[in-house]
Amino acid sequence: MKGDIKGDAPDSIARILRVDHAGEYGAVRIYDGQAAVLRHASGAGEAFARIEEMRAEEARHLAVFSDLLRERGVRPSALLPLWDVAGFALGAMTALMGSEAAMSCTVAVEEVIDEHYASQIVELEGLGEESLRGVLEAFRADEVSHRGVAEFYGGVGVGLLGGFVRLGCRVAILLSTRL
Ligand SMILES: [Fe+2]
Ligand SMILES: [Fe+2]
Repeated sequence: MKGDIKGDAPDSIARILRVDHAGEYGAVRIYDGQAAVLRHASGAGEAFARIEEMRAEEARHLAVFSDLLRERGVRPSALLPLWDVAGFALGAMTALMGSEAAMSCTVAVEEVIDEHYASQIVELEGLGEESLRGVLEAFRADEVSHRGVAEFYGGVGVGLLGGFVRLGCRVAILLSTRL
């Protein structure tokens, strides 16, 4: 079993890097969309500040994956232009519903990303990719803390919005792994 996985390592590593780069790219765009709306919203001051902080962290995650793609010669997802628009739209639409809806979007996204990174961390076991594994573990911890921030500001992962966002994230992950 392990031998089979090892044989596929270069491909499986490329898929991991491609989908994670696309995900962090989408995350930055979601926060861009939220920030664009909440910047002007009255009473969203504190939530806006937290969103800016989380956005900066996603930008740092994205930069790390951009470097890894370049170092490993992995092409980025062909769907980045889609995540550019869809991420921004999701962020802006949820923020237009209010800062608690924006935070609910973050809770739902981070729930999926937490699971996603956790399964990749398991997938990388025994593949001699300890430094990449360390990156995923650190980023996973950041995403879990984003979820905590979003919950503190009234975000909830349940309900129609949460379900819609989780489904969207899962579809985006499936697509970005392959395309
Ligand atoms: Fe991230
Ligand atoms: Fe995050």
